[in-house]
Amino acid sequence: PTIIAVVPAAGIGSRMQADRPKQYLLINGKTILEHTLQALHSHPAIAHVVVAISPEDPFFAELPVASASWLTRIAGGQERADSVLRAVATLPADCWALVHDAARPCLSHADIDKLVGVCTQQEVAGGILATPVRDTMKRARPGASQSPEIAHTECRENLWHALTPQLFRADQLTQALAQGLAQGLPITDEASAMEAAGYCVALVDGNPANIKITRPADMPLAQFYLSALQE
Ligand code: CTP
Ligand code: MG
Repeated sequence: PTIIAVVPAAGIGSRMQADRPKQYLLINGKTILEHTLQALHSHPAIAHVVVAISPEDPFFAELPVASASWLTRIAGGQERADSVLRAVATLPADCWALVHDAARPCLSHADIDKLVGVCTQQEVAGGILATPVRDTMKRARPGASQSPEIAHTECRENLWHALTPQLFRADQLTQALAQGLAQGLPITDEASAMEAAGYCVALVDGNPANIKITRPADMPLAQFYLSALQE
């Protein structure tokens, strides 16, 4: 089946507190976004890449990759789910959409292979890369974010961190996202929309090096993992 990568890259990176959206910060002389696009484009199973960029973004057009024939830019939306919906809605109905955060440059081909394998061979609508939770999980009492207190300990068994890529049929994902957003559900990843629509979604044990760059301290970590991938 045809696989098209969809990259939400229309965020502002507020938690990074940099002078520009985090996808345009440099690691080893290349922007995070370029590392991410390269990791996807260089995979032989990925036919094309669609990237969601903010209409006001002055940075993307300056990148050499902006004119690449394998890349299409579309306008991002208010929230991540809006950006993804706008992108997947442009895809042919019968292709697979492999949705991957721009802020996750440390993606390996091995993880893409593993995800594609599970989604195309098992009786599931699609799947996501994920890693099992390692720490003990605490639920805080609602309210007081200044001095939070523990309400109870969540059972860690069967608890996973959701990563990206997340792989689904483009038509099913477009419908599920549109429906979830219309219902006002908290759609923080593609799987949450697919779950709400009643689909079965596989958890695929991925490499924990595939971090989402969120805060300044994640930059040296990502640089380390990127070097490790290239070895
Ligand atoms: N994203 C997007 N459109 C939005 C918001 C986010 O395409 N309206 C993208 C981001 O560019 C990022 C990915 O979704 O690649 C994951 O989001 P996140 O890590 O939260 O990035 P930001 O929203 O940019 O960061 P912050 O939440 O700290 O502002
Ligand atoms: Mg965000």
